[in-house]
Amino acid sequence: MYDLLLKNAVITTARESFPGSVAIKNGKIAAVGSITAAAERTVDLGGKYLIPGSLDGHVHAMSSGMGEHPVNDYYRLSIAAAFGGVTSYLSFVETRPGMSLSESAAYYKAAMGESVIDYGVHPILTGSSNEAVEEIPKLVALGCPTFKMFMTYADSMCDDATLVRAFKKAACCGALPMVHCESHPLAVAADEENAQNGRLQWSDFPKSKPPLVEAEAFARATAFAQATGCPLIVVHTTVKEALEIARRAQAADYPLYVETCPHYLTLFEDLYEREDGYRWICSPPLRTPQQADALWEGIRDGSIVLNGSDDGCYTLENKECKLKRSADGKLVPDYRKVTNGLPGIETRLPLMISEGVAKGRITMNKLVDITATSPAKLYGCYPQKGEIAVGSDADLVVVDLTKQVPLTLENLHNNMDYNVYEGIICTGFPTMTIAGGKIIVEDGVFKGSKGAGHFLERKLNPELLKRYSALRDLPEERAV
Ligand code: URP
Ligand code: ZN
Ligand code: ZN
Repeated sequence: MYDLLLKNAVITTARESFPGSVAIKNGKIAAVGSITAAAERTVDLGGKYLIPGSLDGHVHAMSSGMGEHPVNDYYRLSIAAAFGGVTSYLSFVETRPGMSLSESAAYYKAAMGESVIDYGVHPILTGSSNEAVEEIPKLVALGCPTFKMFMTYADSMCDDATLVRAFKKAACCGALPMVHCESHPLAVAADEENAQNGRLQWSDFPKSKPPLVEAEAFARATAFAQATGCPLIVVHTTVKEALEIARRAQAADYPLYVETCPHYLTLFEDLYEREDGYRWICSPPLRTPQQADALWEGIRDGSIVLNGSDDGCYTLENKECKLKRSADGKLVPDYRKVTNGLPGIETRLPLMISEGVAKGRITMNKLVDITATSPAKLYGCYPQKGEIAVGSDADLVVVDLTKQVPLTLENLHNNMDYNVYEGIICTGFPTMTIAGGKIIVEDGVFKGSKGAGHFLERKLNPELLKRYSALRDLPEERAV
């Protein structure tokens, strides 16, 4: 007897869609296809889509930015994730005072244990520390083989020499760097010029980081990676100028993997014209609809293979805490002093369904690929995650393509005091989330439990570290 039978579904993977049922036993997928055996509970999905649970590989959980108090602990953030069809998330973690890079990773591995869904850790390699670079092999051994480096932000960036050293080390030990590509010198120069000329309005922010700021750093990181034989993920890519560089490397089968995020596909720089435009300040900045069209094209043609949320939940207090107020209590605009980042873990899949699939920009299979299957492969947990196959974890999401849901603050669970997606009505929505074989969200009700998530001890596939084409042509694996 199965534990759970999901019948009458359109089972959709990155490769194919077909009608059938999925049976679950002991937290794993036990059968797929035409199933007649009985289960403790049977749910008739009435022809709705059943897709692999979403893996959000770009989350800044428990980050308070420049402020004091994180909005959500791991428990609450993971509940919001579950409502958005996310069944695994990977959070960036900083190095803690008095701890090394690998000790910090181990600390966060324990702290994230209160999550309701499975979780993993991407350590951030901050600054230009040789000791941290030497620790990269330890991260691999800890099951955290992906780590982030910044090319901007004075407090956390790595200089070029450190990038090169880290890439060499990663290439030797099977780690995969994820790089935030923005040119620090160009951004600083623009800030200085803007400050001298009194151009610090929110609307001056995107002009301080034009496409060149991103494309130059993207080209530099790519050159460093190619020179050291290191694979690379470039996170939150926003401009066609960067995609052109990526396509050249990928055409030569270089393992350069590009991520973009829903806000760069759905929100645009005109929002910075608003009086409250600082709410949308994130880096890289929101761009134009034309750039978003180029990103959609990149998703379709396979030059972008990852979709992460870049979730950073900052309350207004955290967003504003470095800004001054005038005598009448109004904020004095200075885009340099706003905490960067937008919430997004819960809205990522709904937005990609609505703006992507429902509007005909991408197929449901492509949606699965960029939100679940390719993240699982590149972050080292496939086919445990990102697949509907016998032996894979029973992490599944039911999608109702006809359901309309306005993204109001009341409909979200992210504990925020403002909403960057107000006014957007999603067509198509995740209506049931199943994690580890248990229904954790059903009909808008949370049914999961604190601490039910497990740490994902990740291990990268060596072929994916050598050649881009491996993402497409590796034989399908079974988890058993
Ligand atoms: O604005 C952003 N993206 N903030 C979060 C940190 C980062 O760069 O990913
Ligand atoms: Zn970043
Ligand atoms: Zn980020």
